[in-house]
Amino acid sequence: MGVSKLVLSTLFLATLVVTSNANFNDEFDITFGDGRARILNNGEDLTLSLDKYSGSGFRSKNEYLFGKIDMQIKLVPGNSAGSVTTYYLSSMGSAHDEIDFEFLGNVTGQPYTLHTNVFAQGKGNREQQFHLWFDPTEDFHTYSILWNPQRIVFSVDGIPIREFKNMESKGVSFPKDQPMRVYSSLWNADDWATQGGRVKADWSKAPFTASFKAYKAEACVWAWGTSSCGSVSSPTSTSDWLNQELDSASLERMNWVQKNYMIYNYCADVQRFPQGLPTECSQSS
Ligand SMILES: *[C@@H]1O[C@H](CO)[C@@H](O)[C@H](O)[C@H]1NC(C)=O
Repeated sequence: MGVSKLVLSTLFLATLVVTSNANFNDEFDITFGDGRARILNNGEDLTLSLDKYSGSGFRSKNEYLFGKIDMQIKLVPGNSAGSVTTYYLSSMGSAHDEIDFEFLGNVTGQPYTLHTNVFAQGKGNREQQFHLWFDPTEDFHTYSILWNPQRIVFSVDGIPIREFKNMESKGVSFPKDQPMRVYSSLWNADDWATQGGRVKADWSKAPFTASFKAYKAEACVWAWGTSSCGSVSSPTSTSDWLNQELDSASLERMNWVQKNYMIYNYCADVQRFPQGLPTECSQSS
């Protein structure tokens, strides 16, 4: 689908921007945490912390309707049991759309669980979980969401781990009508997060800190009354991502991840769906 057709078919007003390593001061607002979320180095870095009393979070000032967003994150090191670091896109309102990355902490030496989900029109229940092929607390790694009208792709260091295709033609809702913001938070979920809630947070090790840097968004920014998504504001920018699909090399890498690192797939959970697996599971999703 070409850009002009996209604009005609969805009738949204937006403008295309390309930001390289955006400044956290310009792009984000702190949403909670009373000083526990800190923007550092003139907006280049951001840290979230969690203690017994509160977690912290931030969200993008812009709302996007489609985009390719990258964030580098270094997760809480050591004993991160009970903590959850989130990084997701979400719209507002009741029948909301959401595209989630959640990192569930663990005791020292045990792997984080990377939890993913997709909500469309308020309906989620599409969990896929992974372990990572590296220690995500030792260094920054890039976590990306590609969201275009045909597909949603979750990637880690450029390696796709999950694809959710637009299957509206088969009656499956797809997030494409509601603008979303980027959100991130670090909070206490020790009632369920680690090993099913059996392992609690060790507050003697608090505060727990996760670090963020190098936010990039190539996106259609929702802005009432301004230009449309097809009008490229920067002459050097391209909107290839709007039509991007996974080539065979990427599919192969995704299969490698899913084969070796996937620990839960709702599409394989027949006990959970006795009436039959969700429609989108009949093709790779
Ligand atoms: C924590 O470690 C256990 C044992 O290795 C593993 O089964 C689990 O998936 C890990 N993640 C969480 C969030 O519990």
